[in-house]
Amino acid sequence: MPKMFYFDSKTTVVFGQDAVQGLGSEAAKLGARKALIATDKGIVRAGLLEKAIRSLTAAGLEVAVFDEVEPNPKDKMILEGARAARDHQADLIVGLGGGSPMDAAKAIAIMSTNDGPLESYIEILDAWPNTPLPVMCVPTTAGTGAEVSRAAMINLSDQKLKRALFGASIQPVVAVVDPLLTLGLPQHLTAYTGIDALCHAFEAYIATLANPISDALAEKAIRLAADNLRAVYSHGDDLEARSNMLLASTLAVIACSSAGLGIVHSLAQTLGGYYDVPHGRSIAVCFPYGIGYNASAEPEKCAEVSRMMGTDTSGMSDEAAANSVLDALRNLLADLDVHDDLRSLGFRESDLPELADICVEDGSTPTNPRPIDADGFAELFRSALD
Ligand SMILES: [Fe+2]
Repeated sequence: MPKMFYFDSKTTVVFGQDAVQGLGSEAAKLGARKALIATDKGIVRAGLLEKAIRSLTAAGLEVAVFDEVEPNPKDKMILEGARAARDHQADLIVGLGGGSPMDAAKAIAIMSTNDGPLESYIEILDAWPNTPLPVMCVPTTAGTGAEVSRAAMINLSDQKLKRALFGASIQPVVAVVDPLLTLGLPQHLTAYTGIDALCHAFEAYIATLANPISDALAEKAIRLAADNLRAVYSHGDDLEARSNMLLASTLAVIACSSAGLGIVHSLAQTLGGYYDVPHGRSIAVCFPYGIGYNASAEPEKCAEVSRMMGTDTSGMSDEAAANSVLDALRNLLADLDVHDDLRSLGFRESDLPELADICVEDGSTPTNPRPIDADGFAELFRSALD
């Protein structure tokens, strides 16, 4: 019998080809009249911003654009975005892009109605006194799943820390999820974001708050990623594979929003904040080490993931079947031409004690299936250097 659990997902998901054409009507349903779109220059260059503007204006909304979002959103940039939202008297923030623009949209929504400081809201559930503006999200990558999450990862630039703003009030009201928007994603970003999606599903599957609903979502997401990630990497115009990866990404984050994440994210977020490296790259480096640490805590589920990734575990001991998932992961990374290591992210051994301490404080650590302390994180960093 499952132990007691809690599951909710408040985001309405509108999924499918050309779904972005319905962005405006979904915004109008919320009663919005003035939208600020938070995005980045790459999205503008790719012509995706135009699609969003066209739909919103056709539905009668006045639209302003803040296209200054950069990878790993910084607190100072968030305040600029919030100023743009106030100047426009926005009543809706639309995040358009990968994880950074969507996370930025949530943070801008908070800072449009609150004075801050932003830093005081970090890692405290719904810490802001005033209700943020409503957020809608339109992902253009299949990985972050920020379109359905209640977290926004922000870099506190003065402290080299990546930390979460967290609360139901910043969870997007609507996610408009259109696989056509992911067709032009460059090959290396397709790989990194897809690995992040698989990691969300895997970590949710073995996290301490995993439950029957999150397990069902995580299993589906793992199968979709295992069956489609190589295909989207080698054939970026394969719309069916793109659609399946986008679905995997969304399902995975609905799962981990309920079940939690684990130390792959603790390690990767720490490195991302400290060295300002893209999230997917740091996930790719940390993925095998974090799962290697956890395999003994959830052997049956790790063996199941290995089978979902194509391993024939018949005849293996339980331990070997669990550990076989590491080969499955490493083979996948190799097939995606991902060869990053700790040093290529900027890692210096002299930073190790500080990094290990930051990992302990990371919001993903408490739901890891196997307890770990600073010494344990330091050991993992050292093993990744060998
Ligand atoms: Fe992630």
